[in-house]
Amino acid sequence: MTMKIIYWSATGNTEAMANAIFEGAKNAGAEVELFSVDSISAQDALSADLLALGCPAMGCEVLEESEFEPFFAELEGNLSGKKVALFGSYDWGDGQWMRDWKSRVCDAGGILFKNEGLIINNTPDQDGLNDCANFGAGFAAF
Ligand SMILES: Cc1cc2nc3c(=O)[nH]c(=O)nc-3n(C[C@H](O)[C@H](O)[C@H](O)COP(=O)(O)O)c2cc1C
Repeated sequence: MTMKIIYWSATGNTEAMANAIFEGAKNAGAEVELFSVDSISAQDALSADLLALGCPAMGCEVLEESEFEPFFAELEGNLSGKKVALFGSYDWGDGQWMRDWKSRVCDAGGILFKNEGLIINNTPDQDGLNDCANFGAGFAAF
């Protein structure tokens, strides 16, 4: 199984999650690659068997609008039957952005790992990083 982890991050919190997910997946034996969203096309992303997508809550409980939202919108029509994992950091909200994002994946026919996204408040602490590594290892076996 090939996995691609693709994320957007401004202040490094979602990036730290992505790095820990990458390590977890790699240690579990996955053939995994890590990309910042500006360095891969939606078409290339779809070549992976497993797609892990990371974006923090931005705007008012939405995906980051200039880079990540256009990328995800392009993927969205091609997610049917695709195994997808979602993750991201947030601050003052209650995770609404992730609930909405999850619905979009499910409505598009994607198969969502754990049936929910992994969300972490602000900067992941060691427990949070461990959760991310376990998330990556679990997704590798999904
Ligand atoms: C412009 C902007 C909008 C944000 N909107 C939300 C929001 O709607 N809900 C929320 O919980 N956090 C919001 N946040 C907080 C970020 O999600 C939080 O700082 C997160 O850790 C950033 O992740 P990053 O370090 O990967 O960029 C916002 C932050 C910024 C800068």
